Amino acid sequence: MSAAAFFKEYIRNRKTIGAVVPSSPALARRITEAAEVWKAGRVLELGPGTGALTASIADSMPHTSEYLGIELNGDFAERLRMRFPSLRFENAAAQEFDFDSMMAPDERFDVIVSGLPWASFPSELQTAILDRVLPRLAPGGRFATFAYWGFHKLPAGRKFRALLHERLHGAETTRVVWGNVPPAFVYVARA
Ligand SMILES: C[S@@+](CC[C@H](N)C(=O)[O-])C[C@H]1O[C@@H](n2cnc3c(N)ncnc32)[C@H](O)[C@@H]1O
Repeated sequence: MSAAAFFKEYIRNRKTIGAVVPSSPALARRITEAAEVWKAGRVLELGPGTGALTASIADSMPHTSEYLGIELNGDFAERLRMRFPSLRFENAAAQEFDFDSMMAPDERFDVIVSGLPWASFPSELQTAILDRVLPRLAPGGRFATFAYWGFHKLPAGRKFRALLHERLHGAETTRVVWGNVPPAFVYVARA
């Protein structure tokens, strides 16, 4: 999908898209490395959008790994299925996704990679999404998400950072990827 088409979706759904262009390959590599996707047996991606991070995940994950992407936007979900025919995508809201419908209650993801615009979300939605997905992260599993530099200091950005520290262990930040639009860094933490 072109940057122009992504921008068109942004105009229609500002709050949920939360970015004017897809993430850069440099940010995609940074988040994939921080999440240690290369050794994950099962990967969950939240908000894959047009697949900017997905492409890097697909390159890094072992061939035997299982992947699930949960994408709210129906057009994006359809395009993702065409672009990555071997990966599974569900058109759903992460905070409502029924994991029990597709995996056993004791099955977990080794890694969760998020492309969600947390700083655009009200705190109730931040909490609802984490409440839904974190119980599905394996003990010691990695949760990685990016934050736009500057936005992380807004009230919603601070709230999300506090939630990460509250719900997960050893939250760290990477160096900023200045070439991304807008510049962004990665939060990574363990269950
Ligand atoms: C900032 S864009 C990121 C897209 C892509 N991951 C990237 O980095 O270029 C956020 C994406 O999250 C999706 N999204 C927003 N809220 C969501 C939710 N509650 N559940 C699942 N996906 C959501 C949007 O539709 C959009 O595709």
